[in-house]
Amino acid sequence: MDAITVIRAKRDGGALTDEQIDWVVDAYTGGAVADEQMSALLMAILLNGMTGREIARWTRAMIASGERLELGEVGRPTVDKHSTGGVGDKITLPLGPVVAACGAAVPQLSGRGLGHTGGTLDKLEAIPGWSPRVPTERMRELLREPGAVVAAAGEGLAPADRRLYALRDVTGTVESIPLIASSIMSKKIAEGTGALVLDVKVGSGAFMKDAASARELAETMVALGEAHGVRTRALLTEMSTPLGLTAGNALEVRESVEVLAGGGPADVVALTLELAREMLALAGLADADPEAALKSGAAMDAWRRMIAAQGGDPDAELPVARETEVLRADRDGCLAEVDAYGVGVAAWRLGAGRARKEDSVQAGAGIELAVTRGARVTAGQPLATLHTDTPEAFEDALAALRPAFTLSATPPPDRPLIIDRIT
Ligand code: URA
Repeated sequence: MDAITVIRAKRDGGALTDEQIDWVVDAYTGGAVADEQMSALLMAILLNGMTGREIARWTRAMIASGERLELGEVGRPTVDKHSTGGVGDKITLPLGPVVAACGAAVPQLSGRGLGHTGGTLDKLEAIPGWSPRVPTERMRELLREPGAVVAAAGEGLAPADRRLYALRDVTGTVESIPLIASSIMSKKIAEGTGALVLDVKVGSGAFMKDAASARELAETMVALGEAHGVRTRALLTEMSTPLGLTAGNALEVRESVEVLAGGGPADVVALTLELAREMLALAGLADADPEAALKSGAAMDAWRRMIAAQGGDPDAELPVARETEVLRADRDGCLAEVDAYGVGVAAWRLGAGRARKEDSVQAGAGIELAVTRGARVTAGQPLATLHTDTPEAFEDALAALRPAFTLSATPPPDRPLIIDRIT
């Protein structure tokens, strides 16, 4: 087998054989296929696509490049959630404790944010003492009690994806449904969860800007999960405007704790409960009541134990940025849009996100919205507060944030939070 034959087959619009896929993924992971050869193949895949059989085999080869965790008997059914990423998407933080309080176990292996979308590990690391490093045996213990764990994926989990994702990032080959689906699902299947709910975001702040491509991605991922014995469902959800009122690490932790305390923004509460119901149904706990878990304080209790079990202090003061600046409305009007991408880029420029993998993030940086889509505003009214330790970032952040607010004479039409459900 040789790389040039495989590249030519895909370049000319053919389907790769199982043997070709197994060989090229394995040889690339082991260093026998060069980056420039894999780059050419990835571009051919992006341009010519893959059949369902090819995607399934590619995913299988990526899983086989590393270990598949055996979570074994943890005394509760395991179920995880994965979001394709959005602005202000802090749902994992309240969701894990809600689902754990209802009797399931949530084994979440998460990543860090890159670009304008945040990462769950960056958010939780804003909590003093909290660590994402959890050995597998300890992970099994935490799944028994408190029932939720958020950890950094180890080096041994789908190592082929680690190399491929880094290469795609610098070769313009991220935006391919077969490659995104196999990348996400290889990691989730290798994680060892019994069931999985996918939150596939649609809109300006998401990977998928339109519902048709989000639906195709969701259907591809659901089929991959089911083919590997993981019960999988997907929701398509709105990401044209940020979730909740905050984008930025410590700011999002604070908002999540408000939700766990029974308050918080309505959209964050609604999506947390909807995803919790899907997860509990897949885990065989359809009669559990996630709303009651929030109201009774059981979810808050699970959160406190989850944070403490990973070294965090749930009562510690969260980091606060040194400087703030307020953006105000320049005229009267109705907010027709608060654009997720603009808010995400502004939070990123303030230091909440990273441009390169090795960059660090500022825990306190980000955006706090004072108003949401549909609100009436008057000239001079605050629209948002910008938080950062590096005030020289305000100018660039404001340049992204100002155009994110669109004013109109009349209120915009309602937009549903849940667009579709894929089974
Ligand atoms: N997230 C992933 O893990 N992989 C992709 O390809 C895109 C988003």
